[in-house]
Amino acid sequence: MHPNLRRFRYACETAVAEACSPAQIVRRLAPHMLRLVQAAPCFVTAAHRRGHPDRYARNLIHAGDDGALSLFMLVWAPGQWTPIHDHGTWGVVGIVEGLLEEQTYMRVDRRPQEPRDRGIELLPGGLVLLPPGAVSTFVPNPDHIHRTGVAAGRAPTLSLHLYGRVLNDFHVYDRQAGTRERVRQPCEEAVGDAAPPDAAVSAR
Ligand SMILES: [Fe+2]
Repeated sequence: MHPNLRRFRYACETAVAEACSPAQIVRRLAPHMLRLVQAAPCFVTAAHRRGHPDRYARNLIHAGDDGALSLFMLVWAPGQWTPIHDHGTWGVVGIVEGLLEEQTYMRVDRRPQEPRDRGIELLPGGLVLLPPGAVSTFVPNPDHIHRTGVAAGRAPTLSLHLYGRVLNDFHVYDRQAGTRERVRQPCEEAVGDAAPPDAAVSAR
């Protein structure tokens, strides 16, 4: 692992061990992510840049042995978007190249008798545009719900995504049906000496 990435991994592990809450963890790690994206020309390789023609690609850089952390390089071609989703954990995002767009959603249904996976009503929240060097963080509130991607006509985009667990699955929302379901997320090959994602999951 490149020294810049190794230092970042150490900062992440220390923050998780010492901080009490997701909000404290992301507050501590945001400046480290800023330094990491500023140093990206030193460590980004062709493997980090591997994309996919049909969807955005997730290249695993690091997955913690205890399943408590994962770091991905996401590769976005113009017009590639996530579905509406949440993560079930905190996250820190840093933009290496391009412009990442984030549409947030607010969950406004108030039907406590319904299972939390049905009767879902989402309203669009704010829009965030993240240029190179930008750092964004989120915590479960209880579900940070959003959709991210790169608009058609914009430049290809590279972004670093750190999560508070090995993120191989998450909730995907169907706004029209008012439902959400847990789906597994395809992951590209692990980059460098990162453990394969399934091995990291089974180690949890
Ligand atoms: Fe996300």
